[in-house]
Amino acid sequence: MTGHPENLATRDQRHLWHPYTQMMLAPPPLPIVRGQGVYLYTEDGRKILDGISSWWVNIHGHSHPRLNEALARQAGELEHVLFAGCTHRPAVELAEALVAVLPTGLTRIFYSDNGSTAVEVALKMAYQYWQNLAQSQRRTFITLHHAYHGDTVGAMSVSEESAFSTPFKRLLFGTARADSPYCYRCPVGLKRESCRIDCLSDVERALREEGETVAAVVVEPMLQGAGGMIVWPPEFLRGICELCDRYGTLMIADEVLTGFGRTGRMFACEHAGVSPDIICLSKALTAGYLPFGATATTERIYEAFLSDNRSKTFFHGHSYTANPLACAVALESLKIFRDENVLERVKTLEQQLSRRLDRLRALPHVGDVRVIGGVGVIELVRDNASAATGGYLDRIGPLLAAEFLRRGLLLRPLGNVLYFMPPYVISAEETDWAIDQLAEVLEDWNWFDD
Ligand SMILES: Cc1ncc(COP(=O)(O)O)c(C=O)c1O
Repeated sequence: MTGHPENLATRDQRHLWHPYTQMMLAPPPLPIVRGQGVYLYTEDGRKILDGISSWWVNIHGHSHPRLNEALARQAGELEHVLFAGCTHRPAVELAEALVAVLPTGLTRIFYSDNGSTAVEVALKMAYQYWQNLAQSQRRTFITLHHAYHGDTVGAMSVSEESAFSTPFKRLLFGTARADSPYCYRCPVGLKRESCRIDCLSDVERALREEGETVAAVVVEPMLQGAGGMIVWPPEFLRGICELCDRYGTLMIADEVLTGFGRTGRMFACEHAGVSPDIICLSKALTAGYLPFGATATTERIYEAFLSDNRSKTFFHGHSYTANPLACAVALESLKIFRDENVLERVKTLEQQLSRRLDRLRALPHVGDVRVIGGVGVIELVRDNASAATGGYLDRIGPLLAAEFLRRGLLLRPLGNVLYFMPPYVISAEETDWAIDQLAEVLEDWNWFDD
């Protein structure tokens, strides 16, 4: 198509280095030349359903006419300008639109450029907040087991140690860790039907033990993503918020994955009716178009940075802070939410996922099925009695991914945790087709046989 004698994968392998990829073992990358709706098209003529929303970012479908138009219009007006000492219409209008939909009280927006930076900003904001209030002993973060908050140093520090962070262990700062409500593998050995969210007591233990040193509790509300697609009971989230209030510390909600409808509500915090002190946004913020991040907070926190003493300034920023192209697309995406009843569509998808995936529970290697909003999760186990697995590095992950790709479905299992998270515009027929592929693959073959 380009007239080049070599294909993209061959040229790619000469100069490129891909994320999370063992370059010696990985198959050649998929050469994508076009995206439309829920489909990706390859250089060699394949049509592939994007079953993971291109890493959880896409929501309205690829190459959406309204987003394309918003991007082109903005590029013709102002592509970028520094954001210290300058402002612009897309940044202002997006801030107004975000404040209108965010949980109550989150009225100050600080832009950055991806999910990890949205988290770094939150951590630094919380940390300096206490210093500005002359409580610099508050410098410990309480984080949860199975957490994943990104790959920069601060974000790795507040994440659970994993294959992603082990090589950098000695670079990271320490945190106090507490249980998360992983009901299938309950940390306190109970059953959800009869428990009273007893795992919350571990968070309280950490708060008690760390006392006056706690800067904030950091959580991925309702759905812990890369740590295993763990769906929470809303009571746990409510409990965290109450504990933060009771112990006088801050709550940081990392909604990089869960924000913008992924869990069926605009923000996952809404499931428990809570407003965190700081919220981190990225991924679907630009509907999958551009790298962008936002950290929103309250006036109380913002005001702690106002001073005639310049050392109390929040000295953080990025060259592309508040990029006008990203702001314009994010704003248009919020208009699509408003005009096209997007959340209703996610609800319908959730019902279909629950109905269809629940039937797979009967399969021998299906340990657990979890559904929230537009996310369907199947946790595979070697043996149902012991629930044993190889975790993130389990070789069934790449084996399954290859088989789904052969069938025209792009999935990237997290080791033994298989999940389907399509753009919300997926039709009922397309969802049925994708779930048929899941069912056939899981029924047909014993993936755990060596
Ligand atoms: C909850 C959460 N926070 C932060 C991040 C990091 O985002 P990014 O990959 O844009 O740095 C991710 C990425 O998957 C995430 O799921």
